[in-house]
Formats: sequence, structure tokens, C-alpha cells
Amino acid sequence: MYQVFARKYRPQAFSELVNQEHVRTTLENAIAQNRIAHGYIFSGQRGTGKTTVARILARCLNCVEGPTNTPCGTCASCREVAAGNAPDVIEIDAASNRGINEMRELRENVRYRPARDRYKVFIIDEAHQITSEAFNALLKTLEEPPEWVVFVLCTTEAHKIPATIASRCQHFSFRSVGFDEIAAHMRWICEQEGIQADDEALAVLAQVGEGSVRDSLSALDQAIACCGTVLKAEDVRALLGAYSLDTLAQITQALADRDSARMLDIVDNLVRNGRHLQHFVRELARYFRNLLVIKIAGDNPRLVPASDQERERLASIAASFSEQDLTRYLQLTMDLFRDLQFSWNPRLHTELGLVRLVEAGKLLPIEEALASVGNAAPPAPPAPPAPKAGRSTGPSARHEAQAQPAAQVQPEAQVEKPAPAPGGLQQRLVAALRELGMAFTADAVEQSAMVEAAGELRFTTPPNLMLAMQSADIQKGLEHLKAGRWKIKVAPGNAGTAKPEPRPEAQPAGDDETMRRALAHPEVQRFRELFPDSEVRVVRNLKI
Ligand SMILES: Nc1ncnc2c1ncn2[C@@H]1O[C@H](COP(=O)(O)OP(=O)(O)OP(=O)(O)O)[C@@H](O)[C@H]1O
Ligand SMILES: [Mg+2]
Ligand SMILES: [Zn+2]
Repeated sequence: MYQVFARKYRPQAFSELVNQEHVRTTLENAIAQNRIAHGYIFSGQRGTGKTTVARILARCLNCVEGPTNTPCGTCASCREVAAGNAPDVIEIDAASNRGINEMRELRENVRYRPARDRYKVFIIDEAHQITSEAFNALLKTLEEPPEWVVFVLCTTEAHKIPATIASRCQHFSFRSVGFDEIAAHMRWICEQEGIQADDEALAVLAQVGEGSVRDSLSALDQAIACCGTVLKAEDVRALLGAYSLDTLAQITQALADRDSARMLDIVDNLVRNGRHLQHFVRELARYFRNLLVIKIAGDNPRLVPASDQERERLASIAASFSEQDLTRYLQLTMDLFRDLQFSWNPRLHTELGLVRLVEAGKLLPIEEALASVGNAAPPAPPAPPAPKAGRSTGPSARHEAQAQPAAQVQPEAQVEKPAPAPGGLQQRLVAALRELGMAFTADAVEQSAMVEAAGELRFTTPPNLMLAMQSADIQKGLEHLKAGRWKIKVAPGNAGTAKPEPRPEAQPAGDDETMRRALAHPEVQRFRELFPDSEVRVVRNLKI
């Protein structure tokens, strides 16, 4: 009779176990020293060996030559445990026997000595599914266990085991099994079975298991059923709906070329080949994750489950993107995956999502932009002196503003280097106008917010000063400065300090003076040159 690989190759001794060395060593020591606990909790991902180890433990305890770490494998007890019909090894599936009656029965059963062997081993699978009454019944047993009883509670969700139970058990957490180990284990099985599998095919199978040996072995069964005794990566991928690095690399190529049209082609191809788009996007997320990890942590086989060849290729792809780009791509792809779960039109969503990736790649990294702003800006003037106690903003502050450089006026302004900076165009313009005897214009310019953008000087001027802002006059000032040709635009707005009434208290953000200062700040001005379409919406005063 045909037996699936997961069962046929279930390890029968500790030495056959893949990974889980920490569990193995501790149990071997306990057996060697005859210090067997009455309760064990085996927790961890599905298909990583919990039930397997529970059975190996039972064998070790009950082998005629035991207790031993190397059960003989031939005595009645050893054979029966392997076959699953040993009288004293009782497996209970808590998913279907979760009630109090079953546990009562169990308590009865526990009281009797083993029928033949040394220990009665109760293996409770899916133990987290037991009802709380049943747990209570179990607890009574664990509180005063007969010497011959060993419980093994296997669960994928250890946190659901009540603390009262957990504190009476030894707890082992099973690790998900590494990509390399699963691949090597499958390679060995293929040799036993006379199956030719190429490395990449095994890599694909190891990847789909995501750390579960059982899942990978089931995929191997499926592949052999479908492809026969020769396994090729291409066929295995087609079978499992997995994607080759080539397919995924098309996406990164399109990103590198900033080619949105290519993205639409790729989606079209997927749809025409009947591929499941959400599945594809999940693979894509995994791909970006791998690229990002390689970018950050270098080529580390523990962190990136892929064959050596694939990792090399991933590393070379990762080299042409920045860490920020990859992070953004990964985030957007995960968002897309989530959106697809609720999507009424997966194709549309996928197209939109992939085009967004291209757009995201065009963004100038904020760090770069900031760095360039920082470099270009004049050195910062000293920070304003600490505000004097009781000093208020409003008319009196405004009064001072006319007499002193603005930098020292507004104690609570958020921007640390209020404008105009010494030598800034606006300040020089004000000085030039004064020199030319145009005092009204000078004052009006001083009290306006000024922004330089693409050959234009844009002023936002308090409405009552608009008359003093004649372009021709301002031009004269600029000529006097030899500041080149500018187009002048003046718009009325709340930019100045000229507002006569005190500002209402409850206006912590974006008040006129703060806004004016922020806009006039040379770094803000540089930023607006870099991003001409940007607008300053709110200026927050962080010192309030
Ligand atoms: N660590 C391992 N070493 C070798 N084979 C393993 C290992 N873990 C699992 N397997 C394979 O997977 C099969 C299933 O393992 P097992 O039943 O022990 O998993 P489990 O952890 O109890 O999973 P579940 O939580 O789904 O019950 C085994 O028969 C064996 O073939
Ligand atoms: Mg199990
Ligand atoms: Zn034996």
C-alpha cells in the first residue's frame, strides 16, 4: 500500500530527527538520568515534529531494553508504537475528544497500571482545544500523578494552555525547520526512493513548506504524483503555482526602468495564464522581503530561504535599489495584498498597485532632499535668546519687530532660525529699498512673506500694505542689489505682523507670524524650490 512520505519517513529515533536539537538533548539527558517528568508541553508550528517526538519518547520509555535513548526498534513495544497500536501509548486527538466525559474516562484510565509496559504515555494532540472543564479534570491528575503516567500535550498554540496546567509541565518549543535542512532531508528521501530532483526543484518544495517538514513532504508527494521520478523546477513551480525568480525579477526590472506599461503587461500575462493574483502578490511581497533582508543583513542563508544561486541573484538585484525603496515596495505590496482580499476587481487593484510601485520609486528620498537643503542653506544664525518672562506676542511684539532683526522677536516661534536670515534676499531687499529712500515699500516688503520660486518672487502681503507693494518699486530695489531679474507677484494674505489686534489665544498652529517666519526661512524656501508644487499648509508651534 502506498504511504505518504510524511508517514513513511516519520523519524523513529532521536537520531533521525531534523533540527530540534534542544528538545532532543534535554529529553535524552532526562531519560539517561531517569528523571522523567509527568507532564510535557510540546508547542510549535505544525509539522515540525511534536507528535513524532512524543512517540519517540514513548518508545524510549517503553522499549524492553529501556528506558533508553536508543530504543531497539524490534521489540513488541517499539513496533507497536511505530504502528500506533501500543496498548500503553494512548493518543488522544483533543480536537474531537475535547469534553469532560473523555477526560473523566482518561482519569479512570490513568489510575490503572500499564497493561504491559513501564509507562502509560498519553499523547494529547491539539491540546489547546480541550474545554476548560476538561482541563480541570486533567489538572487533578497532574496534581497527583501515579508514578507510571506521562502526559505529552502537543499544541500549536501554547498560550491557550491554562497556566495551572503549564506550571506542572516541562515546556519545549519546537522550531520551524530551516530551508537548508528541509531541502537536505528531501534530498535524502529522494535518494531512498530513486527520484531525480534538481536542486532548484527541491528549493521550491522547501520554500512552500515555510518551515513545516510535513507540508514540504506533502508537496513532494504531490510533485512525484504529477511529474513522476524526475523533478524539474519548472514543472514543480507550475504545479504549486509558485513563481520563478525570473518572473519576479521582471517586476524589479520594470521598477528600475520606471516602466509602468511593463507592469500592465505583466498583469495581463498573469491573468491570461489563469494565475491567482493575490497569490502572485503574496509571492511578490516575499520577494521584496528577501531583497530587503539581503540589502540590510547581507547574504545570509539563515535569513533568506533560497538556494545559493538564487541568493546570489537576489543580492545583485538588491544592489540596484536603496533600502528605502525596498522598504517602500514591500509596504505597498503588503497593502496591495490586503486590499486584494476584499477586492471586487483583483485585476484593477493589481494594476493600480504595481503602477504605484513605479510611482513610489520616483520619489526623491526625503533624506536626500533634506541633505541638499541643509548643504545649500546659509549657516544658521544663533538661536533666539530665551524669552523674557511676561513678554507677550501681539502688538508690542510687532512693535519690536520693526526695530530689531526678526530673528529675535518671536520667542515662541517653532522655526529655530527665523527669517530673514542675515544676508537673505528679503532682508537685503529691505535694506536696499531703505537706502533708496522707499521707506513704505521697505516696510511692506519686510512685513510680507517672500518665497523665491522658479525665477519668481512671490510676496504674501497684509492687505493694508498692498498699496506699498508696487512691482516697479520692488524691481528698483532688486536692480540696486544687482540681484538679477525676477518676476514679481504680490498677493494679499495673512502673512505679516501688521495685524493690529492681538491673536486669539486658542490658535496654536499656523498663526500669521509663525507662518510668515516659516515661509521666509531660507531652508523652507530652498525646500519649496526643490518641490515647486508643494505648499505649506500648517506651521505648528512646537513650543506651545
Ligand atoms: N523535525 C523533523 N524531522 C524529521 N521529520 C519531521 C520533523 N518534523 C516533522 N517531520 C515530518 O513531518 C511529519 C509530521 O510531523 P509531526 O506529526 O511530528 O508534526 P507535528 O509537529 O505534530 O504537527 P501538527 O502540529 O500538525 O500535529 C512526520 O511524520 C515527519 O515525516
Ligand atoms: Mg501533531
Ligand atoms: Zn524496543
